[in-house]
Amino acid sequence: MNKNKVYIETYGCQMNLADTEVVMGILNNKGYELTKEIDSADVVLLNTCSVRDNAEQRIHGRLGNIGTLKQKNPNMVIGILGCMAERLRDDLIKKKKMVDLVVGPDEYRRLPELIDTAFAGGKGIGVKLSRTETYEDIEPYREEGLAAWISVMRGCDKFCTYCVVPFTRGRERSSKLTSVVEEVRLLSERGFREVTLLGQNVNSYSDGENDFADLLTACAEVDNNLRIRFMTSHPQDLSDKLLYIISEYSNICNYIHLPVQSGSDRVLKEMNRTYTIEHYLGIIERARKIIPSVTFSTDIIVGFPTETEEEHKMTLDIMAKVRYDGAFMFKYSPRKGTRAFKMEDDIPENVKSRRLTEIIDQQLKIAYEINQELIGTEDIVLVENLSKKSDQFYSGRTDTNKIVILPIGNNVKIGDFVKVKLYKATSATLFGDFIEIVDVYRK
Ligand code: SAH
Ligand code: SF4
Ligand code: F3S
Repeated sequence: MNKNKVYIETYGCQMNLADTEVVMGILNNKGYELTKEIDSADVVLLNTCSVRDNAEQRIHGRLGNIGTLKQKNPNMVIGILGCMAERLRDDLIKKKKMVDLVVGPDEYRRLPELIDTAFAGGKGIGVKLSRTETYEDIEPYREEGLAAWISVMRGCDKFCTYCVVPFTRGRERSSKLTSVVEEVRLLSERGFREVTLLGQNVNSYSDGENDFADLLTACAEVDNNLRIRFMTSHPQDLSDKLLYIISEYSNICNYIHLPVQSGSDRVLKEMNRTYTIEHYLGIIERARKIIPSVTFSTDIIVGFPTETEEEHKMTLDIMAKVRYDGAFMFKYSPRKGTRAFKMEDDIPENVKSRRLTEIIDQQLKIAYEINQELIGTEDIVLVENLSKKSDQFYSGRTDTNKIVILPIGNNVKIGDFVKVKLYKATSATLFGDFIEIVDVYRK
């Protein structure tokens, strides 16, 4: 019998990338063949994101293209998974006749059954959220590689007033420490060199017995040549215990993604971010004391309702104070169902654009300056790829998550840890000379 072929495209955050691997694991177990060619697929799935309006617009556009394929192959099943499925539910099916499946993040176990419904001519809908689903017993389908991610918790209980995630992903719940550690062990045995532990708010990880610092410790101890990253940290819950653990284990990356969102206490309060700038700066200061080489990245929203020019300057101010190594910067996008949606979206588009340009320009300047200061220093790079720009170079990353270009040669292979001396830098890339291949990862 010919196996049915599934094609899947992933949008949004790393949680969605991790979920796609869970979905492929589930379908692969049921005998589906996974394909990278949409034209030959019997089932086409889009794992979607709702975080901002433009994320959803992209999916609507993509569905238009896929509609043309379906005209050629009317038996093709088209499914929407992920956050947009959860947010729009059967509206999607009513408005887009070509969509056969709408399955939210907590219903992936039912996918084989729902796909069967669709093959039989019905509509497969699964959008219940769960308080317990973690998929921890399902082995994600991962291709060979160096870097993998593991969802260690799902959902979010923070309810920042602008954010749709608590509605699309449901309540917080964590996988058992033992199951995460077992997955890390399997990845290490398969030759992976880096694992990222994922959650919307990993600092509130709890499996009843262990907190996030315990989990990080247990994962770091599996293999000291396996780098451990984690994201995202919420400033409210980042403990000193965690900072000490990061400093203690050389294979836990000295890199913290700590979204600040705004530099104004009043705006933070309107956003329900539950911390003040003073508290936030306190964490940065303690982290830098405990982990001297730590780097930070952040998320920032400009143009939240009622944000004044002065408050926008406060955001520029906190960025200049912290000096982030990286930042993801967004214009506020009203999301139906959130608390902020009830506020008037009163910052005009041109003002949002100008504020965004200002913070991006400042961030690029700061990142450039930080990177210039690294010239002449040494660091360890995980060699990940051939450089896109030249066939004489590899590209890799430091544990502080910076991209480094280094020469091919000296017996260096993809997957090696290599000590380099940095000789050039832009705002986004460092360039290093080879010093030596490092057998045991030590900073
Ligand atoms: N849980 C993570 C990630 C959430 S989504 C966290 O708390 O950081 C990633 C980022 O998208 C958020 O940090 C925020 O900066 C941005 N974001 C979320 N909702 C948004 C909205 N309605 N408009 C603009 N940006 C938004
Ligand atoms: Fe959204 Fe806030 Fe939860 Fe992050 S912490 S996912 S921004 S509600
Ligand atoms: Fe988007 Fe959902 Fe992630 S809304 S950012 S895919 S949790």
